[in-house]
Amino acid sequence: MGSLRRTEEYGIGMTGLVPARSFCPEGRLFIKREDGNLGGSIKARTAYFILKDLCRRMGDLAGLTLIESTSGNLGIALARLGADLGVRVLCAVDPTVATEKLAMLAEAGGEIRMVHQAGGRDFRAARIAYVKKQAEETNCIWPNQYSNEVGMLAHEATTGPEIWAETNGLVDIVVVSVGTGGTICGIGSFLRSCGRDVLVVGVEPVGSIIFGGEPGPYLSSGAGLDGPSPLLQRHGSVIDLYAKVADDLAIAACREFAAKEPFGIGITGAASALVGRQLARLHPDKLVVAIAADGAENYRTIIDSLHVQPNIVRNAEFRLLPPAWEHGLGGV
Ligand SMILES: Cc1ncc(COP(=O)(O)O)c(C=O)c1O
Repeated sequence: MGSLRRTEEYGIGMTGLVPARSFCPEGRLFIKREDGNLGGSIKARTAYFILKDLCRRMGDLAGLTLIESTSGNLGIALARLGADLGVRVLCAVDPTVATEKLAMLAEAGGEIRMVHQAGGRDFRAARIAYVKKQAEETNCIWPNQYSNEVGMLAHEATTGPEIWAETNGLVDIVVVSVGTGGTICGIGSFLRSCGRDVLVVGVEPVGSIIFGGEPGPYLSSGAGLDGPSPLLQRHGSVIDLYAKVADDLAIAACREFAAKEPFGIGITGAASALVGRQLARLHPDKLVVAIAADGAENYRTIIDSLHVQPNIVRNAEFRLLPPAWEHGLGGV
């Protein structure tokens, strides 16, 4: 019977917090670099907690099949860890998922199910509908990262405490790109329990309507959904403010970040870093942490190929608003 080893043995968690001095010379912006985790993203934490929980509840998972909707990262981590448990992992993706991630998924042993037909829906909603149907009609197990409490607990137990320890309890603002909401709710909930007044800021792509607004197309780079997930509906009150960042701005920020700093960050990390920079400039005395859920290598083709106006980032400003959950609840 397969079982999971300890997180340290997989290289999950205990990631670095790095100052972004050249990207943001005017303020104290730090990046929580999650690209060093197993499979290259923060989702290794979530996958580990999901599988541990399934093992606890179901015992031996060998021979079972898991299915999940993913923009790549969770699928990669589930497939890598699932191999130790003898679990088959099916990953529902969509055509906007980065080709590099699809290659990593396949290499990790994940089986790709491309959901082409959006049927007028958000791609992510179409993926979720597909997975739900598969889970109902076959005997696949669907961890459902959009609703699974464990997806939040992973960050309440690991990412939040790491940020607290790495800043000696002095973090003032944390900026997190939001998909399922597991990361932001877990970190936010932990920081609330520390008794310090930390501002928790969510970021979603323009076109995503987690926090409301007009629906539209956007890349599947990890963040965004067609409404607040069940996790967010339950725990979204930890979010103080949100901002929307368009894909082309985020990609331009990826390029600027990689040109100025010794490492690259992914599209959602760059969106968070942009919003973090605005806050750090406005409040130079505050310690701002932005989460970079993965690295730039995962999106090389998109980052290099998309035409974005030169210098569009320089004067970019984002409106920071409190979430109006009472108008937006519904979700998947
Ligand atoms: C790159 C990236 N950024 C952000 C997120 C959003 O994280 P969460 O689902 O915890 O809200 C994800 C989730 O898969 C991701 O892969």
